[in-house]
Amino acid sequence: MRVLVIGSGAREHALCVALTSDPAVTALACAPGNAGTRAVAEHRPVDVADPVAVAALATGWDADLVVIGPEVPLVAGAADAVRDAGIACFGPSAEAAQIEGSKSFAKHVMSAAGVPTARAWPVGGPAELETALDEAGAPYVVKDDGLAAGKGVVVTTDRDAALAHGHRVLDAGGAVLVEEYLDGPEVSLFAVTDGTTVLPLLPAQDAKRRDDGDAGPNTGGMGAYAPLPWAPAGLVEEVLATVLQPTVDEMRRRGEPFSGLLYAGLALTSRGVRVVEFNARFGDPETQVVLPLLETPLAGLLHAAATGTLADHPLLTWRDGAAVTVVVAAPGYPEAPRTGDPVTGADGPGVLHAGTAVGPDGTVRSAGGRVLAVTATGPDLAAARQAAYERVAAVRLAGAHWRSDIALAAVEGRITAP
Ligand code: AMP
Ligand code: GLY
Repeated sequence: MRVLVIGSGAREHALCVALTSDPAVTALACAPGNAGTRAVAEHRPVDVADPVAVAALATGWDADLVVIGPEVPLVAGAADAVRDAGIACFGPSAEAAQIEGSKSFAKHVMSAAGVPTARAWPVGGPAELETALDEAGAPYVVKDDGLAAGKGVVVTTDRDAALAHGHRVLDAGGAVLVEEYLDGPEVSLFAVTDGTTVLPLLPAQDAKRRDDGDAGPNTGGMGAYAPLPWAPAGLVEEVLATVLQPTVDEMRRRGEPFSGLLYAGLALTSRGVRVVEFNARFGDPETQVVLPLLETPLAGLLHAAATGTLADHPLLTWRDGAAVTVVVAAPGYPEAPRTGDPVTGADGPGVLHAGTAVGPDGTVRSAGGRVLAVTATGPDLAAARQAAYERVAAVRLAGAHWRSDIALAAVEGRITAP
């Protein structure tokens, strides 16, 4: 099977590493890729936001399966274009990707499917913003309705900061959603689906805030670990029955079947499981910890989802142990990351590249806010965490920052699910 991965982050690097270890894969390409994916895949240039270009590349490269990593090409219709070219594609249609592309669309689907989520107040203009904040009460949750690379949400007890974020989104022509605040630990649960059959993966936890102790602004994700030693027994079965399967069924009923990766961002609140958000693709950085634990060959699984044959696919099997990934970010991330700095000590297994590129002089340079996702596995979470941080210490990037507490609360038993 010739597999083409679209994207250039550490998620795509992790996908490429997992795909190369599937014996069914005879050739692997990554477009456009980064300085790290060179080691595992052929590179092809492409504008990922251009569905016609993605489909032309898939045809020209003679791909048997295209795996689309990021949300931007999905929302733009890249999966539709690839399928129209007669090639199997892992990733939802543009219409189905609205489950991530529009938070209000996701709310409609959840409401129709009876899926538990935070109460939401859509805000049409500045006057409604104040009313919505008063009704929702503090802590305030103010969201950009559209795609914002994980940075469109402000959660704050400061009413002025909540107002300011809402105004910023409205002034930029966006739509705003104010939400009920959800307490409790967060879980990311991915499911592979062909639009009918749903196979959940292992739950993971992402560290969304920039700084230790969950301080600082929201980011795309500063680290992750799996599995979750504190997760209640039966969590995956419960989420499959109350969230994932009803959502996939509702999308099919609407005539917008969702195939690909359905990512449920969940809060385990004192009143039960609630959906914080859906994404239409593998999460980043959670993929970096989930895939190293997956024993089932990845290409066969994704191909079965892409071709509607998941019901015939064997049950998934998992390796023992745990995985931890620590994101090494550029100075200024997430607001204004500095790029173009040399990155060294970033070769070898486990160092997944996110925002890197090869400079004109052949050296590896930072090229994005999240530069590396340094990943390790181990017999348990404590061992995986220690191995990941030992590896981080060998990385050199001027002004880099990373959280020092990824998976720490879980290792120390400080997370309790209600
Ligand atoms: P989202 O882009 O919707 O995933 O939001 C990013 C992050 O903001 C989530 O992972 C949560 O940490 C936080 N968040 C979003 N919605 C809520 C909510 N209703 N209550 C509490 N925190 C939230
Ligand atoms: N880790 C959060 C995301 O992928 O959206």
